[in-house]
Amino acid sequence: MAGLDLARIPAHVAVVMDGNGRWAQQRGLKRTDGHAAGEEALFDTVDGALDIGLKWLTVFAFSTENWRRPLDEVRYLMGFNERLLLNRRDDLNRRGVRVRFIGRRHGRVPGRVRKRIDETEALTQGNRRMTLTFAFNYGGRAELVDAARSIAKSVADGSLKPDKIDDRVLARHLYAPDMPDPDLLVRTSGEFRISNFLLWQLAYSELVFTDVLWPDFRQANLFEAIAEFQNRNRRFGSV
Ligand code: IPE
Ligand code: IPE
Ligand code: MG
Repeated sequence: MAGLDLARIPAHVAVVMDGNGRWAQQRGLKRTDGHAAGEEALFDTVDGALDIGLKWLTVFAFSTENWRRPLDEVRYLMGFNERLLLNRRDDLNRRGVRVRFIGRRHGRVPGRVRKRIDETEALTQGNRRMTLTFAFNYGGRAELVDAARSIAKSVADGSLKPDKIDDRVLARHLYAPDMPDPDLLVRTSGEFRISNFLLWQLAYSELVFTDVLWPDFRQANLFEAIAEFQNRNRRFGSV
């Protein structure tokens, strides 16, 4: 934690957990072994986040574009996320973590995964120490499309006038209206892109990129990214 100002911890850190496939490839393993190795990275990061008092942590677990991957990898990721919830939810619950999901729950997500998601959210909904949000079957464009549909319905039923639509109305129609915008986005594995994550919410986030592949990421890497964030000068368009 050296170099971290504990009085200025960001409210919300979002993470694109990337590089599992390359991590496995470098070791002559299957891509899915890389996903498995990412579990320790995630829970070490969660431990660190709890230690420094982070209130909101959001992780990109499966994108609306990840369905394009080979069927066996997609199947693995569905089962992996289901097991992860089963194995970890009691511990997360004991430690005061509220677990939530953003993304399209229906459509292609298998029913048993959806069931675990619903159960885990119900189990942990009263917790307030930290909110851990999984972006799962999530796409930033899909979220904005869903918001547009929902707004259009309110206009059609007369409960919303078109000229009343502003930033706040749109934000209220996102998947998690109470979630503050991320102060900091971290992406691992040396890729410099957003890949359809939180398009609306990242408008003024500080971006930190690291070459570390996700399975090697640990809480020390989170603290480094936050230390870098603390050295930035955020202006929000002002001077
Ligand atoms: C991130 O690792 C995990 C998911 C997208 C589910 P990748 O699987 O994208 O790993 P690389 O980018 O191919 O190395
Ligand atoms: C973004 O990573 C999605 C997740 C981490 C779940 P990808 O590996 O899918 O992104 P691209 O394809 O490199 O842009
Ligand atoms: Mg990737």
